Amino acid sequence: MKKGEKGVLIGIALVVLALMFWNSEKLSKSSSQDKEIPFFSDASMTVKRAGAEVYRRYQCKSCHSLWTVKDIMQTVPAPALDGVGSLRDAPWLARYLAAADPQKMLPSRLKKEYRMPSYSAMPKKDREVLVSYLASLKVKSWYLDELKRAECRKLTGGPC
Ligand code: HEC
Repeated sequence: MKKGEKGVLIGIALVVLALMFWNSEKLSKSSSQDKEIPFFSDASMTVKRAGAEVYRRYQCKSCHSLWTVKDIMQTVPAPALDGVGSLRDAPWLARYLAAADPQKMLPSRLKKEYRMPSYSAMPKKDREVLVSYLASLKVKSWYLDELKRAECRKLTGGPC
């Protein structure tokens, strides 16, 4: 290999390395804010475990998604429950889950079989666990407006 060719090869290698470095810098910067998951739970591990167990037992996921998990057969456009504790407080959730007619508290645009069912027959213990868990599901403030719009779209079917 001639001396000039070697120089060119080294030059190309340096440019490639610089581009790789620049790209990885760009990626790490955008992922820190844009792609961060805005949802979290501020409950203790015990409340999280117990809440998730009740949530599973009552098959809430047949209509709702949570932690981006939804039933593959899910067709009901119910609001996602991620961040619901930033939209509703514990007393509201307790009343909603005990209501004989939940649609009196939150009107529905859906057919009867897709609406939020009444859980007024649920044992008090289960309801308390579920309420503590749901109330702990929070959203980071930079995503709150987006969450409110998503909820509004689900509840009204409108563009919001
Ligand atoms: C048959 C489908 C279905 C099931 C099962 C169901 N939900 Fe719902 N839920 C809905 C729908 C639809 C809404 C929106 C209001 C409406 O249309 O009645 C809703 C609304 C809610 C809301 C209010 C959300 C908001 O944005 O304010 C909460 C909280 C909730 N459900 C919790 C639960 C929990 C907890 C369970 C399990 C114990 C459950 N749901 C089971 C369909 C369902």
